[in-house]
Amino acid sequence: MPPRTTDATPRPQVRGDLKTLKTLAPYLWPKGETTMRVRVVIAMICLTLAKVATVYVPILFKQAVDLVSGGPGFAASALIALVVSYGLVRIAQQGFAELREFFFARVAQRAIRKVALRTFRHLHALSLRFHLDRQTGGLSRSIERGTKGIEFLLNFMLFNILPTLLEIVMVCGILWYLFDIWYALVTFVTIFGYIAFTMSVTEWRLKYRREMNTQDQQANTKAIDSLLNYETVKYFGNEEHEASRYDRSLERYEEAAVQSRTSLSLLNIGQGAIIAVGLTGIMTMAGFGVQAGTMTTGDFVLVNTYLMQLYLPLNFLGFVYREIKQSLADMEAMFRLLGESREIADAEDAVELPAGAGRVEFDDVQFNYRPDRAILKGVSFTVEPGKTVAIVGPSGAGKSTISRLLFRFYDATGGAIRIDGADLRTVSQSSVRAALGIVPQDTVLFNDTIFYNIAYGQPGATPSEVERAARLARIHDFVMSLPDGYQTSVGERGLKLSGGEKQRVAIARTILKNPRIFLFDEATSALDSHTEKAIQGSLREVSRDRTALIIAHRLSTVVDADQILVLEAGQIVERGSHADLLARDGVYAAMWRRQQETGAEADERGPTAEALALSAP
Ligand SMILES: Nc1ncnc2c1ncn2[C@@H]1O[C@H](COP(=O)(O)OP(=O)(O)OP(=O)(O)O)[C@@H](O)[C@H]1O
Ligand SMILES: [Mg+2]
Repeated sequence: MPPRTTDATPRPQVRGDLKTLKTLAPYLWPKGETTMRVRVVIAMICLTLAKVATVYVPILFKQAVDLVSGGPGFAASALIALVVSYGLVRIAQQGFAELREFFFARVAQRAIRKVALRTFRHLHALSLRFHLDRQTGGLSRSIERGTKGIEFLLNFMLFNILPTLLEIVMVCGILWYLFDIWYALVTFVTIFGYIAFTMSVTEWRLKYRREMNTQDQQANTKAIDSLLNYETVKYFGNEEHEASRYDRSLERYEEAAVQSRTSLSLLNIGQGAIIAVGLTGIMTMAGFGVQAGTMTTGDFVLVNTYLMQLYLPLNFLGFVYREIKQSLADMEAMFRLLGESREIADAEDAVELPAGAGRVEFDDVQFNYRPDRAILKGVSFTVEPGKTVAIVGPSGAGKSTISRLLFRFYDATGGAIRIDGADLRTVSQSSVRAALGIVPQDTVLFNDTIFYNIAYGQPGATPSEVERAARLARIHDFVMSLPDGYQTSVGERGLKLSGGEKQRVAIARTILKNPRIFLFDEATSALDSHTEKAIQGSLREVSRDRTALIIAHRLSTVVDADQILVLEAGQIVERGSHADLLARDGVYAAMWRRQQETGAEADERGPTAEALALSAP
């Protein structure tokens, strides 16, 4: 016998499946929702009634057969009564089945919706660290597959497998009652032999199926990767190489697909044989029964019909078994996401950030992403309400990290961060985030219109508010020059806009948010110096009585700041106003001189045409 793939860990798997089902159960039997529970109960009653009708149909059929096989001369009224009841019961069978769907569909769909929503919310509550470690595509696929799995499981487990089991029990009971236990036993053994055979062969066939999936996925990955690298393939003239790599995966897929198909034939032949043996056995018994006079022709038809009727819904058992296993695995993956704990969670007694003028305080803050590499090594500074503080320093010094800590994407590993005197760890994340407006270093936009992306800063903003923000961010004129204006789609992640345009959309939406504290992380780095100057004027205007933290490479953008912090390798090495720092002739002064030299060259080239157009009144 071929090795069964799951035999290595059968118990934990079964336990895992049970756990998955237990997690799902409360959604199907929701607390405090009486109507949903009533629906479930009615659906179960309908299910039972439909099955009762199903097993009653062959009995009416048998009675009709007995009536007509007695030769001519039977009462017409008896025939009509039988045939009409036969028709009515058939209708009832279908009717109850559909009623069951009617009552249960809402329960099932509501459960799916709730699970999906809860997972989605949970994913948003998980930390940035979790998300940086995951592929977003994989996460959304987990939700999609998990919810599809629930739907499949409910449809087949609840409405195919369970009813069939119920039917088997009822039929065996009837056979035992009408004839003797042997008819019940033969039927039972045949059907269970059929089920056991199907399950074990399906289990064995799974490996071909898996191989098919793997190869299919590999062929796909290779094709996509190769097409994404279209230019590179052409640069090196490697079309043949790519084609043969692709073909190798296709070849393995072909092999696995043929084996899968052949093993399916084996399954079908075996299933057919088991049913044939069962039928032969039961018909022999019934035939001798008729000969001995203990059974009628109708009984002969009845036992045959029951067996046929029982195995028909099991025809797809192989497929259903495989899919149910897959569904359970998918659901488990989704529920595992729900089990991920939140790294940054509100404290139990978290309060709203108290109202205040926007004083930001970093008190000996230490931080590392990984324990083996310190990023911030005791950073202390204070931004007084309404003041502007700039952070400058080389790449990788930890500037953006400061903004992530202030936004509480991570918690500091040492020291404290306070806004208006409240330690960030003691207040709710949502209230902190509402108080902050960040223009991040890498702006990513939603794949929607420019209007949507700006209005995102304050959902429900009116067109005139959006336009005002756009004017302040110096993007309005550009938008108006587009054929579709504010309705222009920005493409995936905003890739249809230039870097500078994207930054200005991001600035506009932060202006619209109108927060207590502004944080600009290289917010104007992609702009030419002329546009940058123009925007800086606006930013000064909107953040006039607001606290602002500006992170910048280009020192010319921070000369007006009330205080400049020079960050190097996670430590503040100098602080003071522009004039102070120049007078000190240290790190900052050297940086300033270097940038003045290169800046002069750039300025000789003059402002770009776009900048000129934008600066026109
Ligand atoms: N999620 C992360 N996991 C591990 N290390 C990280 C992570 N994010 C940033 N770092 C590291 O932390 C250091 C500081 O990063 P940060 O983004 O704060 O630099 P920065 O001063 O903003 O630099 P730049 O001027 O280039 O934007 C870098 O060396 C970076 O490699
Ligand atoms: Mg940065």
